Amino acid sequence: VRVHALSDLHLSLARPKPMDIFGPAWENHPEKIEEAWRAAVGPEDWVLLAGDLSWAMTLDEVRPDLEFLEALPGRKILLKGNHAHWWNSRAKVERILPPSIGILQNDALSLGEGWVVAGARGWNLPGAPGFTERDEKILARETGRLRLSLEAAEKLGGRNLIVLTHFPPLLRDGKESPLLPLILESGARFCLYGHLHGKDLEAGFQGVRGGTRFLLTSADALDFRPLLVLDTEREEAGEGEGA
Ligand SMILES: [Fe+2]
Ligand SMILES: [Fe+2]
Repeated sequence: VRVHALSDLHLSLARPKPMDIFGPAWENHPEKIEEAWRAAVGPEDWVLLAGDLSWAMTLDEVRPDLEFLEALPGRKILLKGNHAHWWNSRAKVERILPPSIGILQNDALSLGEGWVVAGARGWNLPGAPGFTERDEKILARETGRLRLSLEAAEKLGGRNLIVLTHFPPLLRDGKESPLLPLILESGARFCLYGHLHGKDLEAGFQGVRGGTRFLLTSADALDFRPLLVLDTEREEAGEGEGA
């Protein structure tokens, strides 16, 4: 199994949107993504997209962005982000999803060879500026959704788990989300997240906590190139050498 990650594509092909609010790196970003993606991802590979695929407000508007993704190699799994106004109901989204794209929503998906992916969007962390009672409720609901997804992952019987969240579950300054304990208890091998951009990229915790490796996968964190997270053939070869 080969698994790549790239989140926060922030596409807007139906109505091109100036991206300079995010900084000059975002100039022509769909072209940058396409070129790097084609160079890195094979047809059988997985690509995990932890939210903010598109700026679209409606299902009609998101279609060109889904078609852009469909035309790229690999099997893609989408998680909801906070800019997901088009993602209204699971049934409606599934009706327009092209064949190479799946969604993760309160469930889990098997990638093969005992690898399973689970996840939930998450939310701003308690203590964030302007955090209200409403945020508290959203965060509690997201925690419940992650629990459901992790239960689904367990039913799939995967030995190795990858968790996707859109919001960072842990910051470098130690602030953590209520999703974090669930992720750590699940024994996930990886937690891949996005949402942070520009000068905020450095705020996300990256590294190992418990047995879980945390990686920030926002497009601008990765120079718009899919990150190879896992290649089991290579890993097994590596383990053989070390043993
Ligand atoms: Fe984003
Ligand atoms: Fe976001």
